[in-house]
Amino acid sequence: MNEELIQNADTCYELGEQRAAVYFNSLYEQVTNKTYVSNLTEDFQQWKQNHIRHTSLFSIFSRKRGKPDSNDYHNYIQWLNYTGKLDSYLDRSISYIYMRDLGKALDTPETQDKIRKVVSNLKSRLIDREKKKDFSMAMLYRMAQKDDVEATFIWLMNKLKTVSANIPEGMDAAHAKRKLIKIIAGVILHVNEEMDEDVTPQDRTKQLDVAIRLGYCYGLTYPFIDDLLDAKILSAHEEKQYSRLIRTSLLTGVVPDINEWSGENKELISYIHAELKAAFQYIKDNQQQDTITSFLEQSYIFFQSQEDDRLKHLSDPTYTNEELYIPIILKSSSSRLIIRSVISAKEDEGFDERTFYYGIYNQLADDFADMFDDLDEGAVTPYTYYLTYHDKRSDLINPFELYWAVISNLIHNVYKSDSKAREIILNRAINGLKRYKEKMGKKKYNEVMELFTTGNTNFNDLIQKLVNKADDVDFFDKLLRDHMVTNLREEQKEQDTFSETIETVRKEINMILPIERIVDESMINDPITAAANYSLTGDGKRLRPIITWIMGVDEYGLDKSAITPLLRSLEYMHTASLIFDDLPSQDNASIRRGHRTLHEVYNIATAELTGLFLTQKAIWEQASLDTFDTKSVLRLIQYSAKTTEDMCKGQIMDLDSKGKPLTEEQLNMLSYYKTGLAFEASLIMPAILANVPTLEIDALKKFAYHAGIAFQIKDDLLDVEGNSLVLGKIVGKDAENNNSTFVSILGSLGAQKMMWEHYCTAIESLQHIPRSTTFLKHLVNYIVHREK
Ligand code: IPE
Ligand code: IPE
Ligand code: MG
Ligand code: MG
Ligand code: MG
Repeated sequence: MNEELIQNADTCYELGEQRAAVYFNSLYEQVTNKTYVSNLTEDFQQWKQNHIRHTSLFSIFSRKRGKPDSNDYHNYIQWLNYTGKLDSYLDRSISYIYMRDLGKALDTPETQDKIRKVVSNLKSRLIDREKKKDFSMAMLYRMAQKDDVEATFIWLMNKLKTVSANIPEGMDAAHAKRKLIKIIAGVILHVNEEMDEDVTPQDRTKQLDVAIRLGYCYGLTYPFIDDLLDAKILSAHEEKQYSRLIRTSLLTGVVPDINEWSGENKELISYIHAELKAAFQYIKDNQQQDTITSFLEQSYIFFQSQEDDRLKHLSDPTYTNEELYIPIILKSSSSRLIIRSVISAKEDEGFDERTFYYGIYNQLADDFADMFDDLDEGAVTPYTYYLTYHDKRSDLINPFELYWAVISNLIHNVYKSDSKAREIILNRAINGLKRYKEKMGKKKYNEVMELFTTGNTNFNDLIQKLVNKADDVDFFDKLLRDHMVTNLREEQKEQDTFSETIETVRKEINMILPIERIVDESMINDPITAAANYSLTGDGKRLRPIITWIMGVDEYGLDKSAITPLLRSLEYMHTASLIFDDLPSQDNASIRRGHRTLHEVYNIATAELTGLFLTQKAIWEQASLDTFDTKSVLRLIQYSAKTTEDMCKGQIMDLDSKGKPLTEEQLNMLSYYKTGLAFEASLIMPAILANVPTLEIDALKKFAYHAGIAFQIKDDLLDVEGNSLVLGKIVGKDAENNNSTFVSILGSLGAQKMMWEHYCTAIESLQHIPRSTTFLKHLVNYIVHREK
């Protein structure tokens, strides 16, 4: 290892520690001589003019009336708008982001101007009722399209998927993903802020592309370094090896290979090592020479301070105040300073200063909110440590007091008593306590306050009064966060229900599919029924009858047993199409649904006849829909026959197009005919039985068109990138047959873009279907994410 670099790193860590110690001492002093109390008391006296109104009985009523719960995201924003509060609400929220995330001071005309612009843009978006959309995959993809970064977006989604898949048990994959996304958003914010206003669209695309990739590369360190080490997944011996690996990388600027790894988690570490190594390389490749050193230094400080923290045990009663607070000052500031060096931003002393002093504010606010969870986990934070030892250790600083000292220091020293900075920081502080009180309940809140507010009676009374009475202290980022958390939770619940439902329905459908053998003395055996059942019993997904079942029964209110013949007919037609498709004259496939294809097990003639047999069986089933109005059943049969005709045309188009450079339009058409139509049929046939109006039928067709094509694109992608064992069919068939598919014509990335385009249009078309579309929404999600 390079001795010089190590010494440098040690020196820079020591320098960091010294700087943090100076900061800590000044805070300590402010706590001891209580200057923060007099400063903040004065600040709050001024501040409250704008936040506490003298209320008459009348105004209490009129103010509270009509105020929606702040959980009600859309209505809350509308309410703010109607009451004229939206501007100042957004202004304080955006100003806060500029301070916290971008390290800005608020007293320059440029920053004020920028904030004004962001606020005005955001406001018009928020009050536009048309845009009353929630954050969804489709919306994010559309946003990415606007900046021409779909490719990067797709790259990121694939990365996130692999990360989730590799998060070991005992760690929270969803949490890891959220954290990564947050970091990426932070990097985008910085890059956006640094971007010239007159940047060309091409340059903007380029910069956003790099920002997203850099964000991912840096963000990876959260789940794969800090969280992994926190989670105690690795054995003590592995942990040592791993820490050494990280340290060496940061010290030398080169990630060493792992030739030997002793321990149980070799596979996990191999993946993580490869991914981090590539990430490290990407960051280095995108650095200016002069920022690379500061990147490595900050990263080393970040890592080392977390290590220092990690080694602490709540059972150890001997930690000094310095030992508790200095690593916190270092880790909370270096994590933000790294972001700027990652994007090679210009040196900005003001940013460095402010960020260095700011970090601990957020850290202490978070640790305050989490203190009981942390205590349960035995984690050492200033709060848990104080809770555990304050009785025995009178020398321990009360972290709540230190928190106020940090605030006072920020307002008066860092932001030089700027009135806007004061306004916003105090809003945030009071809002934090209000939220905490709401979360914990009055009783618990009072207990906590009791514990942490010994002495300083007047100051604490003032704070509590403000927590009770102050108004207009809430922030948009919190509202958005709560809204997104609720949304994601709901989505997850829906998705779980979706998965359970299709699993249950699939099982039921599997039971109704087998065709009964006709016992006829004159036929020695009945090979065609046996052949048909062979094809039917493979492990098919049964998507088409599942769709019919859910829409038919849950949405159109059809009787489950009455539509059984329809369910059979759909799977019979589909299975027939697969039998034909696999024939040597078509795709010449030897495996289907996890077992040998029909013509391989029997012979071509039997396969052809079984295909015909199954399509006829389908008509027979449809003609047995005898509880429905005959006219509807006839319409259904007519529609079904037409669909089969068109699917045949689709297959011929497909076979005819071998090796031809199809246009996008031709690819869509071909896929719609050979594949999309069967999905359309599974939606339209139950709708015909339910006499659904034409307008709705049209909306369903539009949805099916896009969902169906997305399905085929995914099928084409899986033929290249899928796993034969999972798929139950052999991959690489399309290339072998020289088929013209989305992938062969557009390439994998082009095909993925096209798939997401159809995905978005399918999702957007749901709003024209006047039913609950939750199932259909998750169906399209399933289609594009499936591995089988
Ligand atoms: C395969 O359909 C044929 C295509 C339309 C691409 P599925 O992927 O639905 O096949 P099974 O029914 O699950 O076997
Ligand atoms: C088949 O498309 C469409 C049908 C309706 C049979 P593919 O030929 O791509 O389907 P797989 O990949 O063989 O299932
Ligand atoms: Mg085919
Ligand atoms: Mg095929
Ligand atoms: Mg295929």
